Amino acid sequence: RRTGLTTLDNGFVNTASTRSAITFIDGDQGILRYRGYPIEELAQGSTYLETAWLLIHGELPSASELEEFDARIRRHTLLHEDMRRFFAALPHTAHPMTVLSSGISALSTYYEDSLSVHDPAQVEAATIRLLAKLPVIAAYAHKKTLGQAFLYPDNSLSFVDNFLKLNFGTNAEPYEVDPVLSKALERLLILHEDHEQNASASTVRLVGSTEANMFVSVAAGIAALSGPLHGGANEAVLTMLAKIRDSGEGVEKFVERVKKKEEGVRLMGFGHRVYKSYDPRAKLVKESADEVLDSLGVTDPLLDLARELEQIALEDDYFIERRLYPNVDFYTGVLYKAMGFPPRMFTVLFAIGRLPGWIAHWREANGDPTTKIGRPQQLYTGPHERHLTR
Ligand code: CMC
Repeated sequence: RRTGLTTLDNGFVNTASTRSAITFIDGDQGILRYRGYPIEELAQGSTYLETAWLLIHGELPSASELEEFDARIRRHTLLHEDMRRFFAALPHTAHPMTVLSSGISALSTYYEDSLSVHDPAQVEAATIRLLAKLPVIAAYAHKKTLGQAFLYPDNSLSFVDNFLKLNFGTNAEPYEVDPVLSKALERLLILHEDHEQNASASTVRLVGSTEANMFVSVAAGIAALSGPLHGGANEAVLTMLAKIRDSGEGVEKFVERVKKKEEGVRLMGFGHRVYKSYDPRAKLVKESADEVLDSLGVTDPLLDLARELEQIALEDDYFIERRLYPNVDFYTGVLYKAMGFPPRMFTVLFAIGRLPGWIAHWREANGDPTTKIGRPQQLYTGPHERHLTR
């Protein structure tokens, strides 16, 4: 029923699109909880897969549920061999985020038996397949940029270790996973697992509201995440830091340009639609940055530059008045770089982290009989009726 009472909420600043029981955020106090559990506790004491289960099912798994979940995911890591031809057809310059989103769409064509929105067994199969195979596609996207051979997954390894081996192992020599690297990556992935109705989760929900399958809904979420105002910010932060270093202009001058709003100049990794105080995830990443770089034996002047930039911004009226603080993307790039990932892989790592959240949102929306197809209204600003005069 059209009432004619459409109100404009540009960018959905003040409109709830759904009810959700998955994630709670208090942006003023910097609180983030998954299903009631504070992010700090999960980052410290959980694993990626345990937290994924929590997000998807609403409760922590029992030991046997977690074991079974982990085993099922390990069993599904192989990609169809024909997918190699898919990767072969792409240029080595392809951005890994595009490889990932198109790879996930392509993957759906192999699984006609898990595309149903209504059959719980098929929904479960799609969940397992996505969790198992998305990291493999992600690693292949990385190998493609390096021009190295793809490795087969090693199912004797944990989720994170398998992913590291797929990225950094070669066929030429044995690869030992560094436990420091593994722990740090696991923690970063947990921090990214969900963030309520952000642009990509909202995209997944909107696409899913048409009863499109889980694979293509997630592919659309990856596309939404790729933009520099969303997940792409982690790559953009590193590009920004490197530019400041290489130009020699200095941090103060750069901040002045940001404040003058020079075209295309923003302090990437700063600001957030919801957090008007320090992003709790950024706090955790910052805390572990030193520790991780130390354990990996890496020194990176870009980390010092990031700290200097943060300090100046946090004391500057422009940022104080607008309540702009570092967000999760500000320090993650420095860590990913220390782990050996190229900047173009940073947002892909975010996508692996965010996958359980997307799945949880898709399932929550499609499991709710009151969900309606998402269909925003508009305020029409075009011409009045006119006619061809020919
Ligand atoms: N640098 C400089 N000024 C900024 C920034 C920034 N990073 N962010 C916001 N502002 C200013 C903006 O110009 C505006 O100023 P004014 O009131 O004078 O017009 C004011 O702050 C409010 O900004 P907004 O653009 O209306 O805020 P928003 O809620 O629409 O945008 C945001 C949020 C995250 C897109 C934005 O803060 C931004 O572009 N940040 C940089 C990109 C970034 O780091 N994104 C990652 C977000 S967190 C992880 C994720 O979602 O993936």
